[in-house]
Amino acid sequence: MPSVFDLSGKNAIVTGAAGLLGTEHCLSLAEAGATVLAVDLDVEPCQFLCERIALDFGATASAFRANITQPDELTSLRDRVFKRFGRIDILVNNAAVDDKMSGEDDASDVSRFERFPLDVWQHVLNVNVTGTFLCCQVFGAFMAASAHGSIINIASTYTIYWNVDDGRGRSRDSGRRSKRRIDNAIDFELSMSRRSA
Ligand SMILES: NC(=O)c1ccc[n+]([C@@H]2O[C@H](COP(=O)([O-])OP(=O)(O)OC[C@H]3O[C@@H](n4cnc5c(N)ncnc54)[C@H](O)[C@@H]3O)[C@@H](O)[C@H]2O)c1
Repeated sequence: MPSVFDLSGKNAIVTGAAGLLGTEHCLSLAEAGATVLAVDLDVEPCQFLCERIALDFGATASAFRANITQPDELTSLRDRVFKRFGRIDILVNNAAVDDKMSGEDDASDVSRFERFPLDVWQHVLNVNVTGTFLCCQVFGAFMAASAHGSIINIASTYTIYWNVDDGRGRSRDSGRRSKRRIDNAIDFELSMSRRSA
């Protein structure tokens, strides 16, 4: 009986593939048989990861540099992926910036809601929310048109907690909770397009 986790023949894009969890998503997808397309601002660790995937699983994996907040970079990525791999079956929206300010002496003070810097807020929303929206738009449009594909948005359990403060006076979840709202919107859009396909 075929495994329900068998992803042989599927092409999977993972954003933020160089990061802590992105690397694990890529390894798990490769282990399940998918061809992994590892995308990050920082492409070098993705290249090492792809070599590791080839060695460990004998699977195909390719690294791509792209900034998910830039529509032109995403359409260029989509075109390169289609040219080389023909289709996209899975999109894992994992790239993000963490809005906590660790490592600074006054971190817990600066990151209190009352003093949270506007430029950090805007950067977090731009990557975590707008970047996710753009990836869904660019790659999801193809999936909706073909009535085929899966989008997995990585957020956090903080999206379902109501207490914004993490106990150390830091606001934690501005981008993550908004990302969950995108999940709901896309889920609705894709299910509608499947129905009309
Ligand atoms: N690490 C955890 O404990 C944890 C817990 C819950 C949820 N999450 C969620 O998992 C996801 C990944 O978290 P992580 O801890 O692996 O983060 P990480 O910081 O280790 O990795 C994030 C990656 O995203 C990339 N990135 C950032 N901005 C980008 C951009 N504009 N374009 C392309 N790539 C960009 C970074 O270069 C980095 O490699 C996030 O959505 C996070 O909210 C993480």
